[in-house]
Amino acid sequence: MGSIIEVFPGRRDARRRMQSAPALRSAPAPGSSNAPVRVRSTQLEDFAAIRALQRDSHPGFAGWTLKQLESQRNAFPEGQLVATSDGEIIAAASSLIVRWDGTWKSVTGDGFFTTHDTAGRTLYAAEVVVDVSRRGMGAARALYGAQRRLCRKLNLRRIIGAARLPGYRAMRDEMSPEQYVQRVIWGDASDAELCFRMSQGFQFCGVIEGYLPEDLESCGHAALVAWLNPLYSPTEPPANVEAERPRKCA
Ligand SMILES: CC(C)(COP(=O)(O)OP(=O)(O)OC[C@H]1O[C@@H](n2cnc3c(N)ncnc32)[C@H](O)[C@@H]1OP(=O)(O)O)[C@@H](O)C(=O)NCCC(=O)NCCS
Repeated sequence: MGSIIEVFPGRRDARRRMQSAPALRSAPAPGSSNAPVRVRSTQLEDFAAIRALQRDSHPGFAGWTLKQLESQRNAFPEGQLVATSDGEIIAAASSLIVRWDGTWKSVTGDGFFTTHDTAGRTLYAAEVVVDVSRRGMGAARALYGAQRRLCRKLNLRRIIGAARLPGYRAMRDEMSPEQYVQRVIWGDASDAELCFRMSQGFQFCGVIEGYLPEDLESCGHAALVAWLNPLYSPTEPPANVEAERPRKCA
């Protein structure tokens, strides 16, 4: 497959494209159609659909550019995943291996994943986006299940993520972000992204102030969350992901 410039289908075509790559996971889609949710690696042809999901789900945010998506896939193809149902892309998640250092821009290489480091021990869950009309179907659960399997397979210590706190802006005059997160964790408030990560076994590790300054709903803050790999072996080196990549013909 060539450059992204050669492969840029229209939005509607891309979202309906039947996917040919092998599925990594199949799961029932509770509470909706009977079509199972499948997870597979992101292909070049998926980029338009991913960008469409981001535009619809997070209006006001820039979303990934085509160059960022191509760079992410080149850096770490195993970490770029989409969820499909009936052959349509309904969600996507991206990740990279890092030596964690704290802000979205620095840890993701400003979205290009140039910070991907196979010697790192942390899988950083950079983004999850779900079709607005397909939420609650288990798509994000399936994607995060695939990320946990990847973490185990590569013998990584942990997955780290940062959950936006879009409900915080309405409460900012009444409480600190830490107090707001405490309310969510204790069940006195609901914030979708943090609740989702808690449901996936992530532990709250603290508030990152200024994580994403342009996220006005969250007042720039995010909740740092971590999932520990119970099978991690410190005496084993991380699996060599480079060796698993398809070799190019000379
Ligand atoms: C949060 C989000 C990533 C979850 O994706 P999803 O595919 O709808 O979630 P799933 O169907 O896979 O649900 C997985 C788990 O998360 C929980 N969950 C999902 N959405 C939730 C919500 N809004 N509140 C509380 N828990 C939620 C589910 O209960 C489920 O738990 P379970 O596995 O124990 O059954 C997705 O809904 C999303 O991006 N929502 C928008 C976030 C938002 O509202 N942002 C503010 C405006 S931009």
